[in-house]
Amino acid sequence: MVKGAVKVVVGLCLAFGLTFAISARADDTANESPTKVATDATKVGSLVNPYQAKEDAHDQALADEGHKLFGNFGCPGCHGYGGGGGMCPPITNGVWIYGDKDDTLFRLISLGSDALQKEGFTRQATENIVAPMPPMGGVITNADDLWKIIAWIKIQAAANVKANPQ
Ligand code: HEC
Repeated sequence: MVKGAVKVVVGLCLAFGLTFAISARADDTANESPTKVATDATKVGSLVNPYQAKEDAHDQALADEGHKLFGNFGCPGCHGYGGGGGMCPPITNGVWIYGDKDDTLFRLISLGSDALQKEGFTRQATENIVAPMPPMGGVITNADDLWKIIAWIKIQAAANVKANPQ
């Protein structure tokens, strides 16, 4: 009887400890520099957007938050505030130079296109302007901000493609 109770208590402690460890790890990554997160994730496809469900649902509040962050880190100087391009390619027209996976976009924005190509990614589509994207992972505050920016890019691109099918 006592032994059983001890087992239950030990089991509960382990379960709580594990849950805590997992959530603490997720939070740590959220607050880490995108450069570090992208560099540490050596396995392609292992970077998962924590806002995936809301991104898929085209959540407008998330898009607005991401758009504001996009404006904070110097992205519009090259891509235009609406993402429609300027001196650099558009990023919300539904054409994806290295593909549209959030994992790929996180690496591209954090490490830049030269580093991305060194990881084995190749151009799959060409925009009106072809130039290298500089690494921005040291400029964006943390991974959480970058995931929100990516969510905005994807939601805005989906809206643009819907309004203007190719
Ligand atoms: C100095 C100019 C410059 C700045 C600043 C810049 N980019 Fe870029 N970006 C580029 C160029 C050039 C490319 C195309 C890269 C290529 O063809 O390899 C690109 C590509 C991209 C793409 C892929 C677009 C597609 O069609 O697949 C995304 C997404 C992107 N940038 C997001 C961002 C975000 C977010 C920021 C701000 C944190 C940012 N960029 C800042 C120049 C810039």
